[in-house]
Amino acid sequence: MAHAPLPLAPRRFLETARTDAWWVQPAVTFVVFSTFIVYATWAAYQGANYHFGSYLSPFYSPELFGSSSHAIFGPQPAWWPAAVRFSPAALILWAPVGFRMTCYYYRGAYYKAFWADPVSCAVGEPRKSYVGEHAFPLIVQNVHRYMLPFALLLLVFLSHDAWKAMWFEGAGGTRQFGIGVGTIVLTVNVVLLGGYTFGCHSLRHLVGGAWDALSGKPVRQAAYACVSCLNRGHQNWAWCSLIWVGFSDVYVRLLATGIWHDWRIV
Ligand code: FES
Repeated sequence: MAHAPLPLAPRRFLETARTDAWWVQPAVTFVVFSTFIVYATWAAYQGANYHFGSYLSPFYSPELFGSSSHAIFGPQPAWWPAAVRFSPAALILWAPVGFRMTCYYYRGAYYKAFWADPVSCAVGEPRKSYVGEHAFPLIVQNVHRYMLPFALLLLVFLSHDAWKAMWFEGAGGTRQFGIGVGTIVLTVNVVLLGGYTFGCHSLRHLVGGAWDALSGKPVRQAAYACVSCLNRGHQNWAWCSLIWVGFSDVYVRLLATGIWHDWRIV
């Protein structure tokens, strides 16, 4: 039986028949994400107070050039423009920022919270047309898969930082094993970022999603199951790792400025 198409009445912006608190999630996303972006930009611009003893802020890792003992290639390079304030974070932050900003989960979250496109299901939008991710500028989001190797490499550096955070200066300049609160902070940071990165949709595709059948490929099957397991909680990993990486910088910064004191547990 033929049905006549029902005309859909266009909704005004934010108009909806929904009675639930649909606006809470985008509002929380807006506040938390904005706070993080403002703080991270400020912290990265400082170029100071990003290390304390064997601790290095994850915003500055790996420190390619810089003034701390963590710097791989030495102090500020001569080619850095004199008119621009030098910060070691400026050389590396593009990788985690690019990876996170193009994450499939975050895209869904900040399209709602910042662009209101769509603001939520069955809620009126400010625009009449749908641009999508098939044209510029949103087509750039497809670089996510190419940011993945950089994110995995960062995990190696951050793991090394967590390892270094277990070694403290002892008597006579020797290195002594120990655990401080900062060691735990930086180690938890690696675990949370690892849970987030290893649950990435692009990684899931890479390790098994691209194949029609995984039977007869036990290693690939195990890797796919592992990534899928983390992927199911990707939203939680995303928020926990975001908040913790910011807190890790705060912790190291407050130690470096003498406001907080690190408590040695071992
Ligand atoms: Fe979220 Fe790749 S999809 S990190």
